[in-house]
Amino acid sequence: MCGIIGYIGQKDLCSVLLDGLKKLEYRGYDSAGIAVIQGGEIIKRRVKGKISALEQELKSSPIRGEYGIAHTRWATHGRPSEENAHPHQDCKGNIVVVHNGIIENYLQLKQELINQGHRFNTETDTEIIPHTIEKHFRGNLEQAVGKAVQELKGAFAIAVVCSQDRNKVVVARKGPPMVVGIGKNEYIISSDINPLLNHTRDIVFLQDREIGVVQPTGIRFSSFSGKPLEKKAERVSWNPVMIEKGGYKHFMLKEIFEQPQVMRDTLKGRISLDEGDVHLDEIGILKKDLNQISRIVIIACGTSFNAGLIGKYFLETIAGIPVEIEYASEYRYKDFIADQNALFIFISQSGETADTLAALREVIKKDLMTMAVCNVKNSSITREAKGVLLTHAGPEIGVAATKTFTAQMSALALLALYIAQIKKKMNKEQRLGYIQELQRIPHQMENILNKVRSIEAAALDFISYSHFLYLGRWVNYPVAREGALKLKEISYIHAEAYPGGEMKHGPIALIDEKMPTMVIAPRDRVIDKVLSNISEVKARLGTVVAVSNQDQKELSDKVDKVINIPEIHELFSPFLTAIPVQLFAYYIAAERGADVDQPRNLAKSVTVE
Ligand code: AGP
Repeated sequence: MCGIIGYIGQKDLCSVLLDGLKKLEYRGYDSAGIAVIQGGEIIKRRVKGKISALEQELKSSPIRGEYGIAHTRWATHGRPSEENAHPHQDCKGNIVVVHNGIIENYLQLKQELINQGHRFNTETDTEIIPHTIEKHFRGNLEQAVGKAVQELKGAFAIAVVCSQDRNKVVVARKGPPMVVGIGKNEYIISSDINPLLNHTRDIVFLQDREIGVVQPTGIRFSSFSGKPLEKKAERVSWNPVMIEKGGYKHFMLKEIFEQPQVMRDTLKGRISLDEGDVHLDEIGILKKDLNQISRIVIIACGTSFNAGLIGKYFLETIAGIPVEIEYASEYRYKDFIADQNALFIFISQSGETADTLAALREVIKKDLMTMAVCNVKNSSITREAKGVLLTHAGPEIGVAATKTFTAQMSALALLALYIAQIKKKMNKEQRLGYIQELQRIPHQMENILNKVRSIEAAALDFISYSHFLYLGRWVNYPVAREGALKLKEISYIHAEAYPGGEMKHGPIALIDEKMPTMVIAPRDRVIDKVLSNISEVKARLGTVVAVSNQDQKELSDKVDKVINIPEIHELFSPFLTAIPVQLFAYYIAAERGADVDQPRNLAKSVTVE
């Protein structure tokens, strides 16, 4: 949540900062601001609304500067408005700060600062940061920041500039991410690697309780307590093309279409058809340790949670291990059992989700076996978990997760096979059978994507409804959940997901001609039960759209619309059923004119609790 960018270098400052903000906009988009230093003076521009509004403001009222910082906001404390937009400043306007996170003790600090004579202009928690730095400032910015951050409780990543200690941007991190890109005679600081890719791929990742001082002559790092730190840049593999729309109308659509390749990339180098083996030694957990696990706990949020629900079926069916799955936001406060024979898997696209990270830390405190399934190398969750299984989805810009869902399912299927192999749960032929099924899937996905127009046509018949029910059973109940989540978050249509068998216990009361039902109905062990659920909906005048590979005739007699998918192994059908539900939500939202890539009230990476 919230995006931070800063620049010291030779390029046009405002262009670099604006371009960086655009690439960070998916982190928050309710207000934005910029501060530059020009000849010892700080010049600010702030607006309510998106980066385009800031761009307009800078066109009508241009500024120039030698270096500067900028911010796109997702409001936590204080409504979205110009005065609450970052950067915030101290009493004299000499120190300005951009911040991502929440300062939990801001009310207490604010009162103390007011008692000392500081004047506040906003409702934000952030505003206490420049004032606290001001309180400690004796001519050296990093020393003042070092003292200030020790008073702050909560989570924060900040970037600070000061007109009285020039030619430096000071950054600090406790919680939300902060990185520094090292270019040729230039430095770019950011809360995410995406905006850096046009400038450099050599990146230093700040860790918790670290401070960086970025100057035209170089960078140095220290701990909050002032101890100097040696930090090395790491070269990232992502490139700038990956974060362009590539001719698609929205990032979400592009990312849906990337799914066959994402699955290929996630499987690549990890399976061997000759031996029928899965190779995951890279994860950093010894085979002998995996061999002794008798239970798995999966912890995640949102779409990653839904992928975890599907992973539970993969792991239980293939590896024969009981799996529980929990919301990270609940697990972190739970008295959970410190089971030494359990593997705790944390699934996260970003690797920065505050609840997932906090739950991971609780599990680490009890010295248990942890593993991350994550899309961002070097993210907090990958750094702290013992094992790491990377999903190779590349950067995902659309706020609605799509390709990373597929990548997570792919990784979990591989993990299930790997554990089955270690525990000798199945012979080579059986493993090979599953591996061959997985390998076929990207091509089957392409078959669905080639018929995208028919999915679009089906979706356009449903744009005017206000409520939707999603039903699925067994391994496709999680897909129903994911479909409902996609529809809710990007089109703002109310949608609920239920396992088909639960409908008669309550939700069936909702069915009428105004409440259509999307049924995920591939031919599998529960198809007859699902067909009965469809009949129950139709008997109550409900409209049904089904995602299925069931015999055309049998199904088309029963439902109003069918979105066809190819034949697939029943356990792996979510890889295919997920795509039509993503596209269905996408086309409804796009047709309704919703802001598909940046839905209201949301942010891509949820780094606050
Ligand atoms: C779904 O479309 C959302 N982007 C959201 O539910 C997301 O999956 C959730 O916030 C978890 O994020 P993470 O995977 O980065 O931890």
